[in-house]
Amino acid sequence: MSAPTFSDNRSEHAADQHLFLSEAYDLITRARLAEAGVGSGWRCLEVGAGNGGIARWLAGRVGPDGWVLATDLEPRHLTPQRRLSVLRHDIRHDPLPSNAFDLVHARQVLPLLPERLSVLHRLVGAVRPGGVLQLDDLDLGYGPALLTPDQRAAELYQKFLTAKAAVMSATGADSTWGSRVATAMRAAGLVEIDPVPYLSQWRPDSPGLRLQLNHTYRLREPLLAAGLTEHDLTELRALLTDPGFRAVSCVFYSVQGRRP
Ligand SMILES: C[S@@+](CC[C@H](N)C(=O)[O-])C[C@H]1O[C@@H](n2cnc3c(N)ncnc32)[C@H](O)[C@@H]1O
Repeated sequence: MSAPTFSDNRSEHAADQHLFLSEAYDLITRARLAEAGVGSGWRCLEVGAGNGGIARWLAGRVGPDGWVLATDLEPRHLTPQRRLSVLRHDIRHDPLPSNAFDLVHARQVLPLLPERLSVLHRLVGAVRPGGVLQLDDLDLGYGPALLTPDQRAAELYQKFLTAKAAVMSATGADSTWGSRVATAMRAAGLVEIDPVPYLSQWRPDSPGLRLQLNHTYRLREPLLAAGLTEHDLTELRALLTDPGFRAVSCVFYSVQGRRP
């Protein structure tokens, strides 16, 4: 199976998507990883590493005795460096060592994979006893417009969010997975589970809203198939770049669990 449309790194829009994800969430992800205690000598696995922003940060953090392995189905945006190895790897079925890593981290990868529950079990198995799994995943089910020129624009934005959720679901992705990660981690045998939700205001210069704009181009065809019109997309792009537009972000969940 090829990568879903919105996570195919061969797309001309992929680099922007990675950039906006990094700008929106790297600070939160790093703060959480720091809270988990990632430090000198740790062996870390970064799954579906995208542009490698978090993997590079980890490589700096683990010092000369540590090591980071960054994997991706299509690792063309990843560059190896000291203490950071890059591997083309499909987390659904390629070999993965057991009990091997102090930390396993993935952000916005499991929601895209229909096999997310079996992947979760594989990730848990890769963590050494006492080690940490951190999943940073979105729930796109909430995030209404707060300030629009008129009611029609608010409805158009909602129509876009609904169509995007339908596009995701048609590929087996789960647009609300983020809010269920903690429960799934417990069912997979992890302990000390700590789910933290994050919400913010989105404005046209927010990376989260620039990502939405990116999706109006990247997902153009499936969005049209899901019921949006070319006219809707044109109006939507004007709305997403209107300096007065405000929305609530989707909910970003950073969830940690420890392997007993
Ligand atoms: C939405 S991007 C997130 C990138 C990065 N984790 C971030 O948050 O910035 C999803 C990433 O997962 C990768 N991916 C998709 N399916 C995968 C699979 N089966 N195994 C490994 N990586 C996969 C994609 O190639 C892409 O780089």
